[in-house]
Amino acid sequence: MAPISVRSFAKINIGLSIGPARDDGFHELRTIYQTLALHDLIKVDVARGAGIEIRCKDPRVPEDESNTCWRVADRVLRSLRQRGKVTITIDKQLPVQGGLGSASSNAIATMFALERALKYKLPSGERLRIASEVGSDLPLFLLGGTVLGLGRGEQVYPLDDVPAIPIVIATPGVAISTPKAFAAWDKMNSPAKLTGNGRSATIDMFSRGAFDWLSGVPTAGVPAKSGDQAETLLLDLVRAGIENDFENVVFSENPELREVKRALEREGARYASLSGSGSTVYGLFRTQSEAAHAAERIRNNGTPAQATMTLTRKEYWAQIYK
Ligand code: C5P
Repeated sequence: MAPISVRSFAKINIGLSIGPARDDGFHELRTIYQTLALHDLIKVDVARGAGIEIRCKDPRVPEDESNTCWRVADRVLRSLRQRGKVTITIDKQLPVQGGLGSASSNAIATMFALERALKYKLPSGERLRIASEVGSDLPLFLLGGTVLGLGRGEQVYPLDDVPAIPIVIATPGVAISTPKAFAAWDKMNSPAKLTGNGRSATIDMFSRGAFDWLSGVPTAGVPAKSGDQAETLLLDLVRAGIENDFENVVFSENPELREVKRALEREGARYASLSGSGSTVYGLFRTQSEAAHAAERIRNNGTPAQATMTLTRKEYWAQIYK
């Protein structure tokens, strides 16, 4: 069988509000995910035999059962009752543990590639079951584009496509552990911060901001606004006061990340924020040349940075199969 190659796109979080820890240890959250044009490449090969092998030149990527690609491939084979020797090759371009969801995205790309290689398609509900079992950030990549994330982030709802806009991704070389960031958030936010009826004030704020924005976004994916106005649709969202709660804990422990956010703002970003629990900080720009210039200045200051574009759902599906 010919190997199948799939592009594995990155995501950012536009706002992320963290609620209280639940009985299962996860935190209730609200976020808007947005896919980006930056990507890794996943190649899946199925031959006679059995077993799953991961190949990646980047030593930080595990090649055993702990790899999310391995875990998804194993579940897909079981679900389809198929056997085979599966080789997954990861061409890593995205930062590892950078808040861009690259491991989660790699796992969903593996699912799509394996389905194609085996010439079977999982029902969409089964895709979602497997994705959410393996991690909270996987399901968004079953949709791509602009996606509302609820629950622990695994309940996903596609939002209408908004026009792609330029973005700069800056990834300082610090590793941030997501579970530790959640634990630090808990320490900082006693239950007293919950509102009277046990709801979280930050989640309420997020809901109001998102509602505000969605009320003004034209439906059916065709922006009623035109030209310059259409390009600001994503920027309208961030003006609704949406924030990433992780900044409170991650910036105080890693002040250099706050500095990168400030640098992006100084370079003209209309909105800058930490993505997920970091360490990636991104800035949204109005033009590609502004973004390219900002990325260059940030690189010259010693922080790896690159300019790219947000990726609509339409483009996500147009580009995913190589
Ligand atoms: O689901 P995922 O594997 O990405 O989660 C990694 C860890 O992050 C979890 O084990 C949990 O400690 C923490 N987490 C959380 N609340 C969420 C998502 C993740 O506490 N909503």
